[in-house]
Amino acid sequence: MTQQIVERYGDQIFNHAATSEDERLGALTAELDPATFRRLGSLPIQPDWRCLELGAGTGTVARWMSERCPDGGVVATDLDLELVRRNDGDAGVTWTHHDLTRDDFPPGSFDLIHARYLFCHLRGRDQDLARVVRWLVPGGWLVLEEPARFPIEASSHDAYRTTGMGVFTALAERIGTDCDWPRDLAGHMGRAGLIELDTDVAYSMVGGGRPMGRFWELTVEQLAPVLCAIDGITPGMVADTLVRLRDPDFREPGMATVGVTGRRPVAGPPAAA
Ligand SMILES: C[S@@+](CC[C@H](N)C(=O)[O-])C[C@H]1O[C@@H](n2cnc3c(N)ncnc32)[C@H](O)[C@@H]1O
Repeated sequence: MTQQIVERYGDQIFNHAATSEDERLGALTAELDPATFRRLGSLPIQPDWRCLELGAGTGTVARWMSERCPDGGVVATDLDLELVRRNDGDAGVTWTHHDLTRDDFPPGSFDLIHARYLFCHLRGRDQDLARVVRWLVPGGWLVLEEPARFPIEASSHDAYRTTGMGVFTALAERIGTDCDWPRDLAGHMGRAGLIELDTDVAYSMVGGGRPMGRFWELTVEQLAPVLCAIDGITPGMVADTLVRLRDPDFREPGMATVGVTGRRPVAGPPAAA
């Protein structure tokens, strides 16, 4: 019997050893960290909270949590901790090799769990979300921030829009990414049993030196051979998109970030569990 090998995030696409991956995720943190820190900072964080950062990437959010919760502690996970090592690893955080789709934590382990730009890449994202909710203590908080593709779909620039939509097609076909799923992030979290859901959407622009532009440029650059194999996308369109993304006069919408804060009910199991 032959076993089918299913490609995951990082197996080939976005592998942390890729030359530009540290810079690509660094650009993402430059774009997103200020809003993430504001969102997390609005919670009633206590020094003894136990926190979990899933899919930590370069680790900036885990380090932020560690400064605020010195008595409780922070566990930060990723499939690959290479970028954490390169970006001042230790910082009082317990860094753990952990595949969210396969590995568990005991129920009720954490007061606060955060993940950013992660669930969109997981094929079984709704089941994974239900498992993560069980890792919260009753009354604990889950904060998710996920990318949505609709602003790129709405761009009037043909090469940029077509190439961008090609990125979503390529990621969906290769690793199962879905950047439509976050449009109803609060709905998914509600069905996983969370209450007190609070949503907002942050828009980004690309072009010139904007961090989201640099993130998208490095994303398109890494995926260029895959994009050029998609019907309707030519090497000229990919090259044009890369030039535009560096152009200070190019101003187009980048991905939106849907952020939702939710809470496990204080009494009983998660509402939907
Ligand atoms: C787009 S990056 C986002 C990094 C970071 N959360 C941020 O926003 O800066 C996705 C991260 O999730 C990690 N990841 C992907 N699938 C994972 C899984 N099944 N379990 C744990 N981490 C995973 C990747 O290795 C990568 O570091």
